[in-house]
This record gives sequence, structure tokens and C-alpha cells, in this order.
Amino acid sequence: MTYLERVKLHLQPLASPSPQDMRRALISLNTKLEELLPFLHSTDKKPYYRRLLFQNEEVELLVMNWSQLSCSPHDHGDSQGWIQVISGSTINTIYSCKHGELPEALFSRKEQNGSIFYAPKAGIHRMKANGGHDLVTLHLYSPPIQNMKVYDLKACAACIVSDECGAWWPEEQHQKIKEMKLKKPGAQPLEKPKQKR
Ligand SMILES: [Fe+2]
Repeated sequence: MTYLERVKLHLQPLASPSPQDMRRALISLNTKLEELLPFLHSTDKKPYYRRLLFQNEEVELLVMNWSQLSCSPHDHGDSQGWIQVISGSTINTIYSCKHGELPEALFSRKEQNGSIFYAPKAGIHRMKANGGHDLVTLHLYSPPIQNMKVYDLKACAACIVSDECGAWWPEEQHQKIKEMKLKKPGAQPLEKPKQKR
């Protein structure tokens, strides 16, 4: 049985999976780096290259191989997910965010080779490779991600991006579904200009 056949066998039965169902399915795949090597590719000056391994209406499984660039803070739309480190290690930073404001970093955690961590619905995070070792990660999301929101902290802006765009600010106009300006956390609303008499 090929790796992709095994993936299908384990993921096809999932229906409205709970977080624990998804974690169990990801672990049961028992994925080895050697099995993913055929799906890895040059990152082309982006934070990562991603390849879809399985998708149905309930779940999707992606593999990502990372450059030394950090991705942008982002959410996963209305999806929840689990991320498994297959090779190397990553620094995962978690953000909090109030409506209409820029996200603020809460804490960062190092996730080692073999670790599996949860990405809750509406959670905002950012990942980067830790050190010079090649980082390869496996991502199981339910439902498949749509309308991912990416943040540009310097520009005080957020953008809902199309499916073809990763967790970085889109370069192409057609990848921007909706763009919005944000306030800095705690900033006072702008005062209305006084009317001239
Ligand atoms: Fe993510």
C-alpha cells in the first residue's frame, strides 16, 4: 500500500471529527519523513512550499517544507487543525486579538520533531523553522481551510486570502478576497474633527 492509499484509508472515514478524532487519525498515519520526500519542493522565496495530500468535504491533509522565513500571523478561517513536526523543529507563536485590532503575541513554544500541537478554530499563530535544520510539517484541518486571514503587523492590516495563497501577504491582487485596516491594541478611536462654526 502506498503512503497516499494509507492516508485515504485513515482519513476517509472521518465525519464531523472532534479534535481528539483528528489527533488520533494523524497519529495513526505514523508518517515517516521518507514517505513525504516525493512531495517536497523548493520554497521559491516563500516561508514554505505546501502540497495537498488528501481532501474531502470533512478534512484536508497538507505537507509543508519550510525555508528560513517566518510565515505571517494568520488564522485558519473556520477550521480547526493539528500540526505534526515530521523533521526539524519549529517556533510556534500564539497571538490574541480583539475585533478590529492587530494581534498581540502571547507566547512562543518550541515544538520538536515528533510533537503534535492543536490549532483551534479562530486561533492566530505564526510558525518558523528553528535553526538550520530542515523543517517539515504535516497539517490536518477540518473542514478544509477557506478564507484564511493573514495579518501584516507593520502595515496594521489584515487580508482574507484565496486558497492558492499561503500564510503570507498576497503578492497578486486576485489573491486578496478582502483587505482591512486595523487599530493598534489599546489605541483610542480617532476623535471626530470639530465642526467649524
Ligand atoms: Fe497555520
